[in-house]
Amino acid sequence: MSNPRVLVTRPIPDAGLALLRPAKLDYFLPESPPDHEQLIEHVAHHDAVIGQLADRFDAATITAASSRCRIIATCSVGTDHIDLVAARAAGIRVTNTPGVLTEATADLTWALLLATARRIPEAEQLARSGGWQGWEMMQMLGADVHGRTLGIVGAGRIGTAVARRATGFSMNVLYTAREDKPAMAALGARRMPLETLLAESDFVSLHCPLTDETRHLLDRSALERMRPGSMLINTARGPIVDEAALIDMLRHRRIAAAGFDVYEHEPRIPAELTALDNVVLLPHIGSATVTTRNRMAQMAAEDVIAVLSGNPPLRPVC
Ligand code: NAP
Ligand code: GLV
Repeated sequence: MSNPRVLVTRPIPDAGLALLRPAKLDYFLPESPPDHEQLIEHVAHHDAVIGQLADRFDAATITAASSRCRIIATCSVGTDHIDLVAARAAGIRVTNTPGVLTEATADLTWALLLATARRIPEAEQLARSGGWQGWEMMQMLGADVHGRTLGIVGAGRIGTAVARRATGFSMNVLYTAREDKPAMAALGARRMPLETLLAESDFVSLHCPLTDETRHLLDRSALERMRPGSMLINTARGPIVDEAALIDMLRHRRIAAAGFDVYEHEPRIPAELTALDNVVLLPHIGSATVTTRNRMAQMAAEDVIAVLSGNPPLRPVC
């Protein structure tokens, strides 16, 4: 009998692939990343899938997978690209990679916050351009970070890790959550309703998942509640914010600046956004460190091996 077949939709670190071989699993890695039609075609011929955020596992993909596939292991903590209701109905297990990417994503959030507040890309460009004429009192003035107020929307693993770093900057930390979070309280952070947090924060940082409830959580009216001169940092998911409304408010400096790692329609970054000089734009690299990505690939492989061996998944989403 032939070995079970695993579809690895896009390249992953060898650390993950190396676990599949001794487990006697054959894997197929397409030469180029599959578009949606190709993904539907491929999933029908595999017993397991190691997928990524850029793969859309919608109802049509799940239906195609259902005759054979037993697990979709995504190399991400977010699962908003997977129709979990359809997967559950089809009896396909879904796993993700929680925890291992928390610190790397919190570090990146802070890199983005500091870069946005202190205009790092603009300043770096000036230094690199050859046009810098020397120290000037009025040059590249940014915003203070230390001692100011940080509002965290979504006080889970990453939100809490971001708050922990904020204590080193003597910041006043606020958070929204559906219930009190003892780990946040231990850091001195105060829970409050979203409207109050938006009105009181100098920096707002998003860390909730994308769900039906959080889609456009920051719509135009929520963005209008943000304190004048404040800044928004989004390393969670693009559709949590009404991107068009945010661009409009950034253009009019109603919101002073914003740092983006994620976008409403990835990988499209609107030209209106790239034209602004008060934004810092990153290409969704929150968890992109060598160690973290190695471990994410291993976790996905471990779950595929567990399920194809008849064991329960180690990190079940459903
Ligand atoms: P997590 O531990 O599950 O934390 C998410 C938190 O959001 C939970 O505490 C949850 O509350 C809270 N939440 C859910 N709905 C909310 C709402 N309507 N209002 C306020 N809070 C709400 O997840 P995580 O590991 O921190 O990851 C968070 C998200 O970050 C992921 O889902 C993903 O989208 C994003 N992410 C991005 C990158 C990147 O590369 N940029 C990397 C990793 C993760 P409860 O505690 O009540 O459930
Ligand atoms: C990245 O965005 C993730 O959800 O892991």
